[in-house]
Amino acid sequence: MSRPARWRHWVPVVALLATGVARGGDVSFQGDLMPVLNERCVMCHLEGAQQANFSLYPEAWSQLVGVTSTESPMKRVEPGKPDQSYLYRKLMGTHLEAGGSGARMPIQQDPLDSAFLALLRQWIEQGAKQN
Ligand code: HEC
Repeated sequence: MSRPARWRHWVPVVALLATGVARGGDVSFQGDLMPVLNERCVMCHLEGAQQANFSLYPEAWSQLVGVTSTESPMKRVEPGKPDQSYLYRKLMGTHLEAGGSGARMPIQQDPLDSAFLALLRQWIEQGAKQN
Protein backbone atom coordinates (compact mmCIF):
# COMPACT_ATOMS: atom_id res chain seq x y z
CA MET A 1 0.00 0.00 0.00
CA SER A 2 1.44 3.39 -0.90
CA ARG A 3 2.00 6.17 1.60
CA PRO A 4 -0.67 8.56 0.31
CA ALA A 5 -3.26 5.76 0.41
CA ARG A 6 -2.39 4.98 4.06
CA TRP A 7 -2.66 8.59 5.06
CA ARG A 8 -6.10 8.91 3.54
CA HIS A 9 -7.39 6.39 6.08
CA TRP A 10 -6.48 8.69 8.94
CA VAL A 11 -8.44 11.65 7.67
CA PRO A 12 -11.92 10.27 8.51
CA VAL A 13 -10.66 8.94 11.85
CA VAL A 14 -9.36 12.34 12.89
CA ALA A 15 -12.63 13.88 11.74
CA LEU A 16 -14.52 11.30 13.82
CA LEU A 17 -12.53 12.12 16.92
CA ALA A 18 -13.22 15.80 16.43
CA THR A 19 -16.96 15.41 15.90
CA GLY A 20 -17.80 12.35 18.00
CA VAL A 21 -15.97 13.34 21.15
CA ALA A 22 -16.64 17.06 21.08
CA ARG A 23 -20.36 16.57 20.54
CA GLY A 24 -20.65 14.12 23.42
CA GLY A 25 -24.15 13.08 22.37
CA ASP A 26 -25.36 10.19 20.24
CA VAL A 27 -22.99 8.60 17.78
CA SER A 28 -24.47 8.96 14.28
CA PHE A 29 -24.61 5.82 12.18
CA GLN A 30 -24.64 7.72 8.90
CA GLY A 31 -22.33 10.55 9.87
CA ASP A 32 -19.78 8.85 12.13
CA LEU A 33 -19.68 5.20 11.12
CA MET A 34 -20.67 4.88 7.46
CA PRO A 35 -17.84 6.97 5.99
CA VAL A 36 -15.28 4.50 7.38
CA LEU A 37 -17.33 1.40 6.48
CA ASN A 38 -17.74 2.78 2.96
CA GLU A 39 -14.03 3.25 2.61
CA ARG A 40 -12.81 0.02 4.21
CA CYS A 41 -15.56 -2.59 3.73
CA VAL A 42 -17.99 -1.93 0.91
CA MET A 43 -15.71 -3.19 -1.86
CA CYS A 44 -16.16 -6.73 -0.55
CA HIS A 45 -19.60 -6.33 1.02
CA LEU A 46 -21.55 -5.01 -1.94
CA GLU A 47 -24.98 -6.32 -2.92
CA GLY A 48 -24.68 -8.82 -5.75
CA ALA A 49 -21.07 -9.66 -4.85
CA GLN A 50 -21.27 -9.77 -1.07
CA GLN A 51 -18.93 -11.93 1.01
CA ALA A 52 -20.57 -14.00 3.78
CA ASN A 53 -23.95 -12.92 2.38
CA PHE A 54 -23.34 -9.57 4.08
CA SER A 55 -23.86 -6.38 2.13
CA LEU A 56 -23.25 -2.82 3.30
CA TYR A 57 -24.37 -1.22 0.04
CA PRO A 58 -26.86 0.10 -0.97
CA GLU A 59 -28.39 -0.47 2.50
CA ALA A 60 -26.28 -1.03 5.60
CA TRP A 61 -28.34 -0.49 8.76
CA SER A 62 -31.04 -3.03 7.86
CA GLN A 63 -28.34 -5.63 7.07
CA LEU A 64 -26.78 -5.18 10.49
CA VAL A 65 -29.20 -4.47 13.29
CA GLY A 66 -31.08 -7.52 14.56
CA VAL A 67 -29.92 -9.66 11.60
CA THR A 68 -28.41 -13.05 12.42
CA SER A 69 -24.83 -13.52 11.27
CA THR A 70 -24.09 -16.16 8.64
CA GLU A 71 -20.99 -17.25 10.59
CA SER A 72 -22.28 -17.50 14.14
CA PRO A 73 -25.52 -17.69 16.12
CA MET A 74 -25.09 -14.03 17.14
CA LYS A 75 -26.79 -11.04 15.61
CA ARG A 76 -24.50 -8.85 13.54
CA VAL A 77 -25.57 -6.00 15.82
CA GLU A 78 -27.50 -6.61 19.04
CA PRO A 79 -28.71 -3.19 20.25
CA GLY A 80 -27.30 -2.34 23.68
CA LYS A 81 -24.86 -5.29 23.66
CA PRO A 82 -21.59 -4.71 21.81
CA ASP A 83 -19.97 -7.89 23.14
CA GLN A 84 -22.85 -9.92 21.74
CA SER A 85 -22.68 -8.13 18.39
CA TYR A 86 -20.80 -10.18 15.80
CA LEU A 87 -19.80 -7.13 13.76
CA TYR A 88 -18.01 -5.61 16.75
CA ARG A 89 -16.27 -8.89 17.59
CA LYS A 90 -15.27 -9.43 13.98
CA LEU A 91 -13.54 -6.02 13.95
CA MET A 92 -11.91 -6.56 17.37
CA GLY A 93 -10.76 -10.06 16.38
CA THR A 94 -12.63 -11.69 19.29
CA HIS A 95 -15.18 -13.49 17.06
CA LEU A 96 -13.58 -16.97 17.26
CA GLU A 97 -13.96 -17.24 21.03
CA ALA A 98 -17.65 -16.38 20.56
CA GLY A 99 -18.26 -19.32 18.20
CA GLY A 100 -17.65 -17.44 14.95
CA SER A 101 -15.34 -18.26 12.07
CA GLY A 102 -13.07 -16.70 9.47
CA ALA A 103 -10.71 -13.73 9.74
CA ARG A 104 -10.69 -10.45 11.62
CA MET A 105 -12.10 -7.71 9.35
CA PRO A 106 -11.03 -6.00 7.22
CA ILE A 107 -9.47 -9.25 6.06
CA GLN A 108 -5.68 -9.10 5.50
CA GLN A 109 -5.59 -5.36 6.19
CA ASP A 110 -4.75 -3.18 9.19
CA PRO A 111 -7.46 -3.27 11.85
CA LEU A 112 -9.78 -0.30 12.14
CA ASP A 113 -8.50 2.43 14.43
CA SER A 114 -9.29 2.08 18.14
CA ALA A 115 -11.08 5.46 18.11
CA PHE A 116 -13.48 4.12 15.47
CA LEU A 117 -14.00 0.89 17.41
CA ALA A 118 -14.84 2.94 20.52
CA LEU A 119 -17.43 4.91 18.55
CA LEU A 120 -18.94 1.72 17.15
CA ARG A 121 -19.15 0.29 20.66
CA GLN A 122 -20.80 3.48 21.91
CA TRP A 123 -23.31 3.47 19.03
CA ILE A 124 -24.34 -0.12 19.87
CA GLU A 125 -24.60 0.73 23.58
CA GLN A 126 -26.81 3.67 22.68
CA GLY A 127 -29.27 1.29 20.99
CA ALA A 128 -27.82 1.07 17.45
CA LYS A 129 -30.11 3.79 16.20
CA GLN A 130 -30.82 4.39 12.53
CA ASN A 131 -29.54 7.94 12.82
C1 HEC B 1 -11.04 -8.01 0.83
C2 HEC B 1 -12.44 -8.32 1.08
C3 HEC B 1 -13.05 -7.93 2.39
C4 HEC B 1 -13.00 -6.72 3.03
C5 HEC B 1 -12.25 -5.45 2.61
C6 HEC B 1 -13.87 -6.82 4.18
N1 HEC B 1 -14.41 -8.06 4.25
FE1 HEC B 1 -15.72 -8.75 5.65
N2 HEC B 1 -15.69 -10.60 4.83
C7 HEC B 1 -14.93 -10.96 3.75
C8 HEC B 1 -14.98 -12.41 3.58
C9 HEC B 1 -14.26 -13.20 2.49
C10 HEC B 1 -15.80 -12.90 4.61
C11 HEC B 1 -16.14 -14.37 4.91
C12 HEC B 1 -14.90 -15.12 5.42
C13 HEC B 1 -14.39 -14.64 6.76
O1 HEC B 1 -15.19 -14.32 7.66
O2 HEC B 1 -13.16 -14.57 6.95
C14 HEC B 1 -16.25 -11.74 5.36
C15 HEC B 1 -17.13 -11.78 6.44
C16 HEC B 1 -17.54 -10.68 7.17
C17 HEC B 1 -18.53 -10.70 8.24
C18 HEC B 1 -19.34 -11.88 8.72
C19 HEC B 1 -20.78 -11.69 8.28
C20 HEC B 1 -21.74 -12.60 8.99
O3 HEC B 1 -22.95 -12.43 8.77
O4 HEC B 1 -21.32 -13.47 9.77
C21 HEC B 1 -18.61 -9.43 8.73
C22 HEC B 1 -19.49 -8.93 9.87
C23 HEC B 1 -17.70 -8.61 7.97
N3 HEC B 1 -17.07 -9.39 7.03
C24 HEC B 1 -17.53 -7.26 8.17
C25 HEC B 1 -16.60 -6.50 7.48
C26 HEC B 1 -16.34 -5.12 7.79
C27 HEC B 1 -17.09 -4.30 8.83
C28 HEC B 1 -15.35 -4.70 6.95
C29 HEC B 1 -14.65 -3.37 6.91
C30 HEC B 1 -13.99 -2.96 8.12
C31 HEC B 1 -15.02 -5.83 6.09
N4 HEC B 1 -15.79 -6.90 6.45
C32 HEC B 1 -14.08 -5.78 5.07
C33 HEC B 1 -14.23 -10.11 2.92
C34 HEC B 1 -13.93 -8.79 3.20
